[in-house]
Amino acid sequence: MDLATFEWLLTEDGAQLLAEAASLQSSGADALAAGEALRRRATPERAAAAWTQIGLRAKASTKFGDLAPRLFFTPDGLEQATRRRVAAHRAGRAAAFGARTVIDLGCGIGGDLIASAEAGLICAGVDLDPVRVAVARANLAALGLAGAVQVADATEIDRRAFELAFADPARRTGAGRTFRVEDWTPPWSWVTEVLTGDACVKVAPGIPHDLVPRGVEAEWVSEAGEVKEAALWSGRTATVARRATVIGTGGLATLTEDDDPGPAAVDTRAVAPGDHLYEPDGAVIRAGLVTAVAAGVEGALLDEKIAYVVSERAFVTPFARGYRVVEQLPFREKQLRAALRERGIGRLTIKKRGVEVVPEELRRRLGLRGDGEATVVLTRVGGDGTALLVEPH
Ligand SMILES: C[S@@+](CC[C@H](N)C(=O)[O-])C[C@H]1O[C@@H](n2cnc3c(N)ncnc32)[C@H](O)[C@@H]1O
Repeated sequence: MDLATFEWLLTEDGAQLLAEAASLQSSGADALAAGEALRRRATPERAAAAWTQIGLRAKASTKFGDLAPRLFFTPDGLEQATRRRVAAHRAGRAAAFGARTVIDLGCGIGGDLIASAEAGLICAGVDLDPVRVAVARANLAALGLAGAVQVADATEIDRRAFELAFADPARRTGAGRTFRVEDWTPPWSWVTEVLTGDACVKVAPGIPHDLVPRGVEAEWVSEAGEVKEAALWSGRTATVARRATVIGTGGLATLTEDDDPGPAAVDTRAVAPGDHLYEPDGAVIRAGLVTAVAAGVEGALLDEKIAYVVSERAFVTPFARGYRVVEQLPFREKQLRAALRERGIGRLTIKKRGVEVVPEELRRRLGLRGDGEATVVLTRVGGDGTALLVEPH
């Protein structure tokens, strides 16, 4: 979609075509029929742009929830946009830190920009891509939010007028997602320069701890049990070195290295039936805070290298999924199959950590039969394979 076509979508005629595309979509029309109907009212480019836009809005609901039908997207812009709840948390932190103004250096279609404006920050965004700039501007307007968006090179912007700089470098190249920080746009060398002031930079969750500059806080964020990103907080916004923030249905919880007694203070011990096993959230694991979870549930590690915690006590914690250990099963496949057959287990959830098992393949090989349902944890304790039959809390 070029800029002129997108700008046309924002006109009254464009809005009408979008409304028609939406009603075709909800009546179940396929692309061919919809294209034909829409082309009776507009040029092929505009008809295609309207149909694509409606498809993107449907897809966007996983990231933007009920805002999605009011927003505009490009395919790549949507893919790169921050999820609404994650962006809202970040913007809320920026506001709580006391920032009143923020510059979004590479705002894309405005996922983070919307959240900043909603959090009450006075915000401006820049992006190199004129279509994304127009989309971000339209998105703020669609939600009745204030903010200035313009085409500019983030690396050349004077950031001094803003209390906080935010960046979310693109981690894709023509060849796909890139893990080399110098290939990000803008690159890591620029990121480190931004991090010399009060700033927040969204990065890949796989960022190595030793890459995080001294004095910068790294926060790993998960939503609904999946790690979505890490954010680096610098200058006066950095409060700790490592933080895990878990966003769930019940709200948000955060754990930091201040909650962590450290590996030396946490034992390892064997598991027994009746114990409770805890599987820490991915953000906790990435943040290196598994021992903080162990301390929180008055537990120990099953193995010092593996992120499972065992405790005599049942706790409800947002930082881990809990299970009651029912019994230990044989780890060898043949005996495991026999044990599961004996118990009439026909449906099996397989959890694994530290073992080379592909759950789908193992499930197929086990040839399960029966009406029973169970969860099995496969892991390694002191180098030995271990299978545990567990029940989720
Ligand atoms: C990951 S996306 C940002 C997504 C955004 N945070 C959101 O939630 O929608 C990164 C953006 O940075 C932009 N970009 C890359 N290099 C840039 C530069 N030097 N100046 C301005 N924008 C840049 C890209 O065009 C892209 O839109």
